[in-house]
Amino acid sequence: MLVQLLLAAQVLVPAYSANTSRYAFYRDIGVGVEGSRRVFGGAVAGVGEGGTACALLDRFWVARCSGAVLALRWVLTAAHCVSPRLSYVKYNTRRHPTTDGDVAPVHYLYMHPGYKVVQEDEGHGVDVTVLHHDVGLVRTRSDMLLVAAPSRDPLVAMKLYDPEEITGEEVQVFGYGRTERSVLGEELFCVRLVMSRCARGSWVHCVCGAARDLRGVCSGDSGGPVHYKGVQIGVTSMGPVECGGGGGAARGATSVFTALRRYADLINDTIHDTDSALRMRVISRASLHCLRDHVMLSALTLLTLGVLS
Ligand SMILES: *[C@@H]1O[C@H](CO)[C@@H](O)[C@H](O)[C@H]1NC(C)=O
Ligand SMILES: *[C@@H]1O[C@H](CO)[C@@H](O)[C@H](O)[C@H]1NC(C)=O
Repeated sequence: MLVQLLLAAQVLVPAYSANTSRYAFYRDIGVGVEGSRRVFGGAVAGVGEGGTACALLDRFWVARCSGAVLALRWVLTAAHCVSPRLSYVKYNTRRHPTTDGDVAPVHYLYMHPGYKVVQEDEGHGVDVTVLHHDVGLVRTRSDMLLVAAPSRDPLVAMKLYDPEEITGEEVQVFGYGRTERSVLGEELFCVRLVMSRCARGSWVHCVCGAARDLRGVCSGDSGGPVHYKGVQIGVTSMGPVECGGGGGAARGATSVFTALRRYADLINDTIHDTDSALRMRVISRASLHCLRDHVMLSALTLLTLGVLS
């Protein structure tokens, strides 16, 4: 498995080009090439901080992505994290591989109907050129009661701030991704970034965050919550291919987030099962009519992870 992941990482990281940041989804936590894909500069999240953050695990209990508990049986994450491989949600934990925390089995998976990603090889490696609506939901089979519940209903709070209008403000990004201290991403970390403009016009409803030093998101952070003034305003979508550190990552490389405010009603309608045309679609391995989505997901998996399928 590790060998496969290593191969995948090599497929994903072709020749480095000096002043270009390439972007990729972090769907899996794999061992990077010479540690060059670890994150940096974050701090272990304090008790109560990021209380909604959760890890999305596959059936082997390996963390695939991060997420945030939104309601009793609902987790908010990135659409590209929504894969039939997800089996469990681990929450109320700061170290998911330990016995610390609680587990809820995954029931249904949802992604935004307009989710779209185009990855192209522009001559200097595969890059995400188009990114639309990278937001999804995971429904669990059992209730999730948070030890450190947010003071405000996340569904209401999501509408408080427009992430696209807080350029220059500081946000907190939470995730169980890889760090300079934990190669396999075992601990909830928090990193502070300053909101900035995204370089690409073809990234729809995305906001970016940058640090002046080598900080940012990494493998396994995808789907994790982005907080502003204590409420979730975004979901981690992408980061530079070489997260933060050695191996020539760009200093101050931006991390990319999905701005939630515009999706608040859609998310609420999906959770309340309102009869709305904009409801997110259910994706499930068993269901025949979702075959198209399934195929799309498989294609994405291949593109993102190379040899893994
Ligand atoms: C690097 O930056 C310079 C100046 O900003 C630009 O002219 C050049 O095209 C860039 N190179 C690449 C590979 O993007
Ligand atoms: C979510 O939807 C329910 C049912 O339609 C509605 O009562 C509630 O006010 C909505 N909440 C928000 C935050 O929009």
